Amino acid sequence: MSTKDYIFDTGSELGEKHVEYLEKMLDGPTTMVLSSLDIQPGQRCLEVGFGGGSIARWMSDRVGPTGKVVALDLDIDHLEPRPNLEVLSHDINEGLPASAQGPYDVIHARQVLMHLPQREAIFKHLVDSLAPGGWLVIGDMTDRERTVKAAPSQADKELWDKIQHMNHHLVGKPRGMNFEWTHEVDGHMASAGLTNIQGLEYSQVTKGGGNAMMLHRNLNIQAAPLLLQAGATQEELDRYRELTLDPGFRAWFFQIIYTWGQKAA
Ligand SMILES: C[S@@+](CC[C@H](N)C(=O)[O-])C[C@H]1O[C@@H](n2cnc3c(N)ncnc32)[C@H](O)[C@@H]1O
Repeated sequence: MSTKDYIFDTGSELGEKHVEYLEKMLDGPTTMVLSSLDIQPGQRCLEVGFGGGSIARWMSDRVGPTGKVVALDLDIDHLEPRPNLEVLSHDINEGLPASAQGPYDVIHARQVLMHLPQREAIFKHLVDSLAPGGWLVIGDMTDRERTVKAAPSQADKELWDKIQHMNHHLVGKPRGMNFEWTHEVDGHMASAGLTNIQGLEYSQVTKGGGNAMMLHRNLNIQAAPLLLQAGATQEELDRYRELTLDPGFRAWFFQIIYTWGQKAA
C-alpha cells in the first residue's frame, strides 16, 4: 500500500489544525491510559503516527534522559527531536525502520490503524516489537450512530446524520477506513498472546464552536471534494459548517475505544 492510504494531509494548514484539535480532545483520556502503565525513567517507547507530537513529548518527559522515545509519521513538521526523542519520517506500512526495531516497553498508536488497510499486518509487527512485559496501546474511532442531541430544526438534524453517514460509508470506508476495527483489537491482542488486556471508551457531547465541533468542521472542509463527488451539495456542506459554529447545536462526537495489552514477561 502507498502512503496515499491516509486521506488527510497532516502537513497542510488544515491538517495541522486537525491534529491540534485531536490533541485537545483526546490527550486527557490518552494520558490517563498511558499513566496507568506506570512508564518508568529509562524505558523505551514508540509513538506511531504522532500527528502533532504531544503524546511523544509526554512520553519523552516520562522516560527522562536515560530513556528513549521513537516517534514516526509520514509528516514530521510538528515535532522537534530531543536528546531522548528520535523523530522519523517513515511509512508504517513498511514495518519499522531498521534503526528502530525495538524492542519497546510501550507502543502507542492513536487514530492511525483505522485509516490503514494493512492494519492487521502492522498490528502483528507492533506486537513483535514489544519487549517482554511491554504494552501495546491502540486507540481508534467507532462508527457512532444517532449523534445529535439538540438542533435548530429537524431538517438540520437529518442533514447532520446524512453527512455523518456519507463521511463514514461513502468517503471513509471505500478508501480503507475501518470503524469496526477498534471493536476487534481486544480479540487480536488475545490471539497474539497478549495478557492483561483492558479497554476504555471515551466520547463527549460537543456544541457548536467547541473544540470537537471545530474538528468536525475541519474534517468536513478537508473531505469536501470527496463529499461532493459522493453526492453532497455545496448548500448542504455550507449548512453543516454553520451548525458546527452554532452553540445551540449539540451532538455526540465519535467514540474512541482504547485497548491495551501486555506481552508476557
Ligand atoms: C488522524 S491523525 C492522528 C494523529 C495522532 N496520533 C493523534 O491522535 O493526535 C493520523 C496520523 O497518522 C499519520 N499516518 C498516516 N498514515 C501513516 C503511515 N502509513 N505511516 C506513518 N504515519 C501515518 C498521519 O500523517 C497523521 O499524523
